[in-house]
Amino acid sequence: MKIAVLGMGTVGSGVVNVLNTNKNKIESLLGEEVTVTHVLAKNIDKARDIDLSGIQLTDKVEDIYEADIDAVIEVMGGIDNTYEIILQFLKNRIHVVTANKDLLAERIDDLVAVANENEVHLNYEASVAGGVPIIKTIENSLNANQISEVMGILNGTTNYILTKMTVDGWTYDDALEDAKAKGYAEADPTNDVEGIDALRKIVLLSRLSFNKKVDIKDVPSIGITKVESEDIQIAKNLGYVMKLVGIGKYSDSLSASVEPIFFKADHQLASVNYEKNAVYVIGNAVGETMYYGPGAGSLETASAVVSDLIDVLTTPVKGNFAPSEKAVIQNEEVEYQYY
Ligand code: NDP
Ligand code: HSE
Repeated sequence: MKIAVLGMGTVGSGVVNVLNTNKNKIESLLGEEVTVTHVLAKNIDKARDIDLSGIQLTDKVEDIYEADIDAVIEVMGGIDNTYEIILQFLKNRIHVVTANKDLLAERIDDLVAVANENEVHLNYEASVAGGVPIIKTIENSLNANQISEVMGILNGTTNYILTKMTVDGWTYDDALEDAKAKGYAEADPTNDVEGIDALRKIVLLSRLSFNKKVDIKDVPSIGITKVESEDIQIAKNLGYVMKLVGIGKYSDSLSASVEPIFFKADHQLASVNYEKNAVYVIGNAVGETMYYGPGAGSLETASAVVSDLIDVLTTPVKGNFAPSEKAVIQNEEVEYQYY
C-alpha cells in the first residue's frame, strides 16, 4: 500500500510516528506493507524532527496527483485551496483521510457527493475531538438509534483555559499562552477562543447524529473572550463550573449552538478538565452515552487518522454517509446558561 501525506506538522509527523512505531500491528491488519511515498509541505527546506528519508518531499501537489498511490492523508489545513486538492484526489479515485474540520464544516456534502460518485472513501474521524473515536461511533455503533441530543466539550484550547482559570486561578492571557505553547491552539487561536472551532465540530456531529445537512451559517456561537476571572470565581463559589459546549438537539427541527455553560460541579462534563474533550450522545434505544479523551495533540490525533487509513484500505466502499435533506433550524438566542 502506498500513501501520500499532505502536511508534515503536528498531526502529519504524528502519523509517520504511529505508522513507524506500530508498523507490525498495522501491516498485519492490512495484510501488506504500508509505505509513505510522498509528503507535501509548504517549505521543503525546513528542518524537521521527523525522519523522512526515502520519502519524496515536495511542495508541488501535482507530483502527487501523478503518483501511484492508494490513499492520501490531508493534514495541512486550509479551506479553498485544500478543497480543490481533495476534490482532485477524489476524482482520481484515490481514498482520502482528512482531519480538516475547517473545510469539512463548510463543504462536506460537496466532497462526499464526489467521493460517492467516484466510489472512494472520505474518512474524517480526527476532525472532531481529536483522538476520541466519536465519528465512527455515531455513524456506525449508534446507528440503530434515533439520536435526540449530542453535546460536548469539543475544543481543547478553551477547555484548557477555563480549567486553568477555575482550578489553578490563572489569568485568561497566561492560560492562552500556555495552550499555544502546548500545541493545543490553532496557529491563529482566534477560532478556538471565539467558539468557531467548536462550532465547526458541532455542525459535523449534528449532521451525522440527525442525518441532516447543516449549514454552518445557521448555527450561532459565542466563545470565551469576554469571560472574566471574576465570573469564574463567583460561579465556583456557588458550586458551578464554566465549560464551552457545542449542543445539537433534534425533535422536529434542529436547535444547535456553541456557548459557555455553567455546570453544577457534580455534572459529568464539569470534571472534564484541561485539554480533554468529551461528547454526550443520547439515543432512544441506548439512552445516555459519553465519550472522553484527548481532543488534540500529535500522536493522539494521529491515532484517529491512522485508524481511518486502515479503514479505507481494508473496507469495501459502500458509500460515504450522505444526508439528503437540509435541517430546519430553530435556535434559541445564545446566552450563558446554567445546567
Ligand atoms: P500544522 O500547522 O502543525 O502543520 C501543517 C502542515 O501543513 C505543515 O507541515 C505545513 O508545511 C503544511 N502546509 C500548510 N499549508 C500548506 C500548503 N498550502 N501547501 C503545502 N503544505 C502546506 O497543523 P496541524 O498538524 O496542527 O493540523 C493539521 C490539520 O489537522 C488541520 O486541519 C487541523 O485543524 C487538524 N487537526 C489538528 C489537531 C491538532 O491537535 N493539531 C487535532 C485535530 C485536527 P510546513 O511544515 O512546510 O510549514
Ligand atoms: N485547536 C483545536 C482544539 C485542536 O483546541 O481543540 C483540535 O481540533
